[in-house]
Amino acid sequence: MPGAIYAEGLVKTFGDVRALDGVDLDVPEGTVLGLLGPNGAGKTTAVRCLTTLLQPDSGKAVVAGLDVLKQPNEVRRSIGLSGQFAAVDEYLTGRENLQMVGQLYQMKAKAAKARAAELLDQFDLADAADRPAKTYSGGMRRRLDLAAALVVSPPVMFMDEPTTGLDPRNRQLLWDVIKRLVSGGTTLLLTTQYLEEADHLAHDIVVVDHGHVIARGTSDELKARTGGERVEVVVHEREHIATAGEVLTGFGKGELTVEEHTRKLTVPVTGGAKLLAEVIRELDVRGIEIDDIGLRRPTLDDVFLSLTGHVAEVKEEDNGAPEKAAAKDRRHKKEAAK
Ligand SMILES: Nc1ncnc2c1ncn2[C@@H]1O[C@H](COP(=O)(O)OP(=O)(O)O)[C@@H](O)[C@H]1O
Ligand SMILES: [Mg+2]
Repeated sequence: MPGAIYAEGLVKTFGDVRALDGVDLDVPEGTVLGLLGPNGAGKTTAVRCLTTLLQPDSGKAVVAGLDVLKQPNEVRRSIGLSGQFAAVDEYLTGRENLQMVGQLYQMKAKAAKARAAELLDQFDLADAADRPAKTYSGGMRRRLDLAAALVVSPPVMFMDEPTTGLDPRNRQLLWDVIKRLVSGGTTLLLTTQYLEEADHLAHDIVVVDHGHVIARGTSDELKARTGGERVEVVVHEREHIATAGEVLTGFGKGELTVEEHTRKLTVPVTGGAKLLAEVIRELDVRGIEIDDIGLRRPTLDDVFLSLTGHVAEVKEEDNGAPEKAAAKDRRHKKEAAK
């Protein structure tokens, strides 16, 4: 039986760009899928297809047991969507935004009011509830956006980069909300470029690049597949980065990564502690002073790098222009409520 979110062979092209090139997904009910990929990989396109905002060229999608192509209205009533294209109306207050969503989903006015109050509390927005959303900070706006997606407690949620650009405190706050949500049985598809976020929240991970699924599994499975340990060295002098890089490449079994600003070099190795001792000797012979050296297991960042050839990085500007998108989104919501 397919899961709460299911896709088979999803294809979506924009002119020459194959944004989705045959994507399969299956998210069991009550679990979190982390959809990862570099910028332009097709994450948002996948979310938009699955949430009826875009019509795929071909393929099949079933969400909450409903055929996305044949029953779009029913699907819209069963899902919540939040994230990159935030659906917040700038000119309404936080409270009005939430009440409006409730009414779009045909809640009685009284029920919509009560639900709004409950969510404002839960999202730490009660104090700002009666100020227009345009006076909110980025973190508050994201919280309002997420709250808006939860007005009707949908069984299936989609979040497109819900914490991009947030400070650590707000990110933690959202993570807590998300965890509570999932423990209540919600199925969630989450896109993110923060691999720590996927590590933290997702049961399963799917990595996409150029519209293709290039890997899937649990975080641990992906790390195990990426294999082996890493030697990580922090050199004392910036000028020694290049030479240290040569040394590490000599011992390494894969691509060297260098973080210039922290003077940290990392390379995958096999050979454990014995090899580490050899690396230390060789660095010493070359007169390279080190601040820190160690062996560590691969992180999800290593997995991402080895799969996509990119270091995961968030480009803030990709999250821009929420206002325009929000207007479009509202139009959509109104249609959805019909
Ligand atoms: N409306 C659109 N018109 C033209 N190209 C688009 C459109 N939406 C997305 N694309 C292209 O499709 C690809 C995937 O984009 P997207 O799904 O936004 O990636 P991601 O969310 O992973 O960064 C990119 O090459 C992007 O430029
Ligand atoms: Mg995107």
